[in-house]
Order: sequence, then C-alpha cells, then structure tokens
Amino acid sequence: MAPSWQGRDVISIREFSRRDIETVLQEAQRIHPNPDLLRGKVMASLFFEPSTRTQLSFASACERLGGRIIGFSDVESTSQKKGETLADTIRMVERYADVIVMRHPLEGSARLAADVAGVPVINAGDGANQHPTQTLLDLFTIQRCLGRIDGLRIGMVGDLRFGRTVHSLATALTRFEDVSLRLISPPNLRMPESVLRELEGTVNYHEQEKLELEGLDVVYVTRIQRERFPDIEEYEKVKGAYVLTPQIVQEQLREDAIVLHPLPRVDEIHPDVDALPQAKYFEQAGNGVPVRMALLKLVLLGEGGGA
Ligand code: NCD
Repeated sequence: MAPSWQGRDVISIREFSRRDIETVLQEAQRIHPNPDLLRGKVMASLFFEPSTRTQLSFASACERLGGRIIGFSDVESTSQKKGETLADTIRMVERYADVIVMRHPLEGSARLAADVAGVPVINAGDGANQHPTQTLLDLFTIQRCLGRIDGLRIGMVGDLRFGRTVHSLATALTRFEDVSLRLISPPNLRMPESVLRELEGTVNYHEQEKLELEGLDVVYVTRIQRERFPDIEEYEKVKGAYVLTPQIVQEQLREDAIVLHPLPRVDEIHPDVDALPQAKYFEQAGNGVPVRMALLKLVLLGEGGGA
C-alpha cells in the first residue's frame, strides 16, 4: 500500500512513486493562499547551510497557509556550536514544531533526523546527496512549460558530481516514460556511478564533455559546487567550464525549449540569456512556493485534508 501522506517524511526522491510525484504536482497546481489551512501549526526551519530560495520559499509557503515559523539560518547562533549533536537538537525541536524542514551539509543527516523525530521531516538538501523538494518544483516547472515529462530530451550541464539537485532529478526521471538524458560535464565532475546505475533500463543517457544542446527540450544548468570540493585546486581547474551565452541558446535551442537552473548562478548563465524566451529559471524559483505549500499541506493534513 502507498504510504499515507499525513506524517510522511520527505527525505529522498527515491521514496516517491510516479503517483506520489503526480499527487504533489496536482496539489501544487490547485493550491492557493489560505490563512486558515495551517492555522495553529508550527514549522521549524533549520538551515545549517546557506540558502536563499529554499528557505524563503518554505517560509512564504507556510505563511501563505497561515502557519507559524520558528528556526534559524545561522548555525553560529545555535547550541551545535557548544557541541550538541544533531540528534539531540532534533529531539528538542520535535517538541516545538509540527514539521521540521532541514538543510544540512552532511549526506544522510536528513535521514538521521527523520529516524529521531516523531514529526515529519522534509529534507531541504543534505550535502551533495539529495534535494527532493527542488526536484518536485523542477518537475512542476517542466510540466507547466512543456505540458509533459514523458518523452522529453533533457540535458544536465555542469557539476553533476556534487550537485544534489541533479542527483534527485535524475532519479525522479526514472519514474517517467521514454526520457533521455544528455549528461554534460568535465570528466572529473561526472554523474556518480550510483545514480547512473539507477538510470539503467529506464532512462536512456549519454555522457559528454562538450556543450552541445541541439535537440534538447530542457537544459538544466548547475553551479560548480565550490564548497564541496575537497581540494580547491581541483575547483580552480573546472570553474567557468561552461558559460551559456545568448548566442549558444539562439543557435542551438528551439524557441520552445526551456533553460532551467536551481540558482544561485555564478557565471554559468550569462545575464543576457534572462531576456530570451527559453529562460525559465526565475519562474522555476517562483514555483517553489506552490510546490512547498502543497508539500506542507500533504504532510500536515494528508491527501484531501482541509480541502
Ligand atoms: C541548490 C542547492 O542548494 O543545492 N540551490 C537551491 O536549493 N535552489 C543549488 C546550488 O546551491 O547550486
């Protein structure tokens, strides 16, 4: 039986069937601000790593549904600085809140939090591992712009090794039919073998170094994840490896193709691309609000809850 939504943790997109993904996207399509829906509910927002969009869009989503927010975005101000373990922090926060949204630099930290907490935990990014809510808003954006996910040709560009958004998105695409993936990265930033193995038999993929975008429906550009390089010299060698310019977009992409980026960008998309019809990354960031409203509603009230 499919797990019920109410009380469910959102840790890895691997735990989501196609039906689950579609439930979130449909809910996000329908949901609108309602100050009574989460009245009396408290969301704990624990950001142990920097964030602009994810943190603010979760906060906006909660506020728009009438919930309250506690939390921090500066680990320097917390007792972790005094040596408190993550498990102890979570054991306490679960008594203060109805749902915990957490971003943490360590892979596996979200799972640990979910194992400890009696309230639902939503992973807002754990190290280079997973970023499931970003994937849901990426899929929502693709669906809205192109009307489907099945059958699309999708390119992922940049840091496929350390970028958690592309790991989650690649896994999610295995839930759809006939998707093909072009994985464009420098050789030392290739998609991890573990993710490639998941694609086998479902998603047809091709790895390459050259920035060739012809024939793609979606180009998903990523930032080189400087903070995750064990060796800064290795970063220096690959920084600025790809820069998407208006010329490349106009020469290589159809007008109805779309360019996405989880943001923040550094230099991998030239600002002049923003005005082109293919540029959808700010719209994508905006979609974080309805998608996170849908998720908060589902995990706090269940399917059909408050409808
Ligand atoms: C991404 C992240 O934090 O993984 N940002 C986001 O959540 N929108 C991408 C990144 O930091 O490069």
